[in-house]
Amino acid sequence: MEDKQFWHDKWQSGQLGFHLEDTNAALVKYWPKLDIDKTCEVLVPLCGKSLDMLWLRQQGHEILGVELSQIAARDFFEDNKLKYETTKDDKFQNYTGDGITIAVGDFFDLNEARTTNIKAVYDRAALIALPPSLQKKYVAHLESLLAPGAQILLVTLEYDPADLDGPPFSIPGPQVQEHFAHWCQITQLKTTALTDFRDIAANETVYHLVVK
Ligand SMILES: C[S@@+](CC[C@H](N)C(=O)[O-])C[C@H]1O[C@@H](n2cnc3c(N)ncnc32)[C@H](O)[C@@H]1O
Repeated sequence: MEDKQFWHDKWQSGQLGFHLEDTNAALVKYWPKLDIDKTCEVLVPLCGKSLDMLWLRQQGHEILGVELSQIAARDFFEDNKLKYETTKDDKFQNYTGDGITIAVGDFFDLNEARTTNIKAVYDRAALIALPPSLQKKYVAHLESLLAPGAQILLVTLEYDPADLDGPPFSIPGPQVQEHFAHWCQITQLKTTALTDFRDIAANETVYHLVVK
């Protein structure tokens, strides 16, 4: 599952079970409570073509999404009828329009020079999309990009791993602590039992993290 080809194949074949046709309810409910400066730029790692980027943009933020698939970036702008242009740098093909940039490439190639204005991160189906071996690397990379005071809204999923092979991967509360407690203050905002997740019992949990 560490294979990038896995995700390219998903986009190529249109197997996009993770994609939501509405803005995520937890984002709409909790983002305003975080009191995040509307002028700051928001990072959306592993963004797919999530409509949540549109909602965040409507709150006033500039958006930097990072995504492996060109198909996702193109579809995001075209489906939402947004004009965009593309530019290339050494690591990313950038799709930019209306205050939103989707940098197409590997999240692990994103560097600090690119994230100096990032004061907030929205992670829905990013950490949980990665296998345990890459979750550690992902969290360490996020830590390297963020300054103290930066805030993260994190949405995770928990289920009995015997019920399902990820992705998405189950990340129970103690694992969230393990990943973030040494560098973030963690507030658990809400846990909801999902009624429609692949016919198995699963909980979604929303966390607010503040970089120490
Ligand atoms: C489960 S999807 C979630 C997409 C989005 N966050 C959402 O809520 O719809 C995970 C996405 O991460 C992308 N991805 C996986 N590994 C990546 C990496 N190393 N760098 C950038 N994007 C990656 C995949 O192409 C896929 O679109």
